[in-house]
Amino acid sequence: MSVVVKQRLLELLQEQNKNFYELFNFFLDGNISCHLKQNKATELLRYELEHIGQSESSLPNEIEEFKRWYLNENTKVCLEYQDYLKKRQEGAQRQYFVNIAQAFEFLIKVAPTKKVDGAWLYSVIKYWHDIEFHELILIYLEELGGGYEKSNHVCIYNNLLHSLGLEDFEYYLDDAYYHNAVVQLALAYAPPEFIPEIIGFNLGYEQLPLHLLISNYELKELGIDAKYFNLHITIDNLANGHAHKSLKVLEQVYKGFKNKDDFLNRVKQGYALNNLGISSTQIIKNLNTEHFVLQIFKKKAQMGQFIHNDQKVIACKTVNQWLGKPEQIADFIQTLINKKWIKLNAEPEESPFWKMIHYPDGKMYGVFTPAERRIIHDWIAGEVSTEALPTNLFKSADLNFHNADLSYLNVAEFDILKQQIAETSHSGLTLNTLIPFLAPHVHHSNIGLWSTQKYAAILFPYLDNTFK
Ligand SMILES: [Fe+2]
Ligand SMILES: [Fe+2]
Repeated sequence: MSVVVKQRLLELLQEQNKNFYELFNFFLDGNISCHLKQNKATELLRYELEHIGQSESSLPNEIEEFKRWYLNENTKVCLEYQDYLKKRQEGAQRQYFVNIAQAFEFLIKVAPTKKVDGAWLYSVIKYWHDIEFHELILIYLEELGGGYEKSNHVCIYNNLLHSLGLEDFEYYLDDAYYHNAVVQLALAYAPPEFIPEIIGFNLGYEQLPLHLLISNYELKELGIDAKYFNLHITIDNLANGHAHKSLKVLEQVYKGFKNKDDFLNRVKQGYALNNLGISSTQIIKNLNTEHFVLQIFKKKAQMGQFIHNDQKVIACKTVNQWLGKPEQIADFIQTLINKKWIKLNAEPEESPFWKMIHYPDGKMYGVFTPAERRIIHDWIAGEVSTEALPTNLFKSADLNFHNADLSYLNVAEFDILKQQIAETSHSGLTLNTLIPFLAPHVHHSNIGLWSTQKYAAILFPYLDNTFK
């Protein structure tokens, strides 16, 4: 780590002002010690819990009521979904994603949260000696796919982004999109005093939301591999899945707590942490293809302002002059529309600009990635075109792209770990040695996947073959 980066990270520890993107990277930096992460997590969680409002919490006040309340909430969502399906069968339009551009925008904006899926439970895997936490540990291991890439939730989401060419869209995300992910990462490194809050957060996260059901349905309809979303409908189920386990843990740990009221209050606070940041529902409500296209143009303008020759003048300015100032880009796009370079709400083939960026012999071919072109395509077409994804445009989603970034460079570390584990005959010691490799930044790499398999095999041998 460079001195500058280290200095910046140390400053972050002191800062009250939060930059969620930097905090996100702080918690996912393998070079930063667990001790520093734990300190930051404690400070951050205390701050968030102090400022969080619980007023809208629908959680019951008595432990005996939780099961019924959970079931009622679940039934409500299922009924709303049935209603949605009925409307769709009667010919209603999609409710969430008008076209693929909107689906892409959604997948990009929820990505920070998905890239740390399961993180809120990382700290509990240290409590393996306490059987009361085994249900939570099991949820964490299932989030990690038991150490198999095809079942690891972070791998599945990364592979989905990769298969759609959406992996480099970080640039388009405002800081607020990292807020919820940072809360999850803070819980990952939270000391034991935050166990009630973790149980509360888990309870909320494993609850079936309506948006998951509808997103799953509409993404599939648009030809997008919805495995990640479908998986969360099945694995989080209330009968025997994560939702069921979440309730069971709540009831078990409650019994052991002396101050019951305090415990339940803190569970409620942890539950409320789910509301921090920008929720999937808010993201869906605010999808805005026009704004997204503007952002894409602004990004391209950073280079584009130096590339064009000065012969072409549009509305008294050269293209380089238009692109030179970010605040002019919206007017530039409007000028392209006025001059009929772009014809909105018509087949994109009718727009000269589209032909220039889309066809291999076009003057601007290659400037926009296939995913960016798709977003521009859908923006131009408007209501005219809503066809599903032509899969040949994109890389196959069936392939497993290894997330083992730098795996070749980490061979030595991996070999040392394998040797250490082989030489350890004590299971407890083995589990403790493996724990650092199940952390949010590493569990989806080669060494992390291998370590997860080993950890799961010791604690839950009956799970063998479940994830393969
Ligand atoms: Fe998950
Ligand atoms: Fe889950």
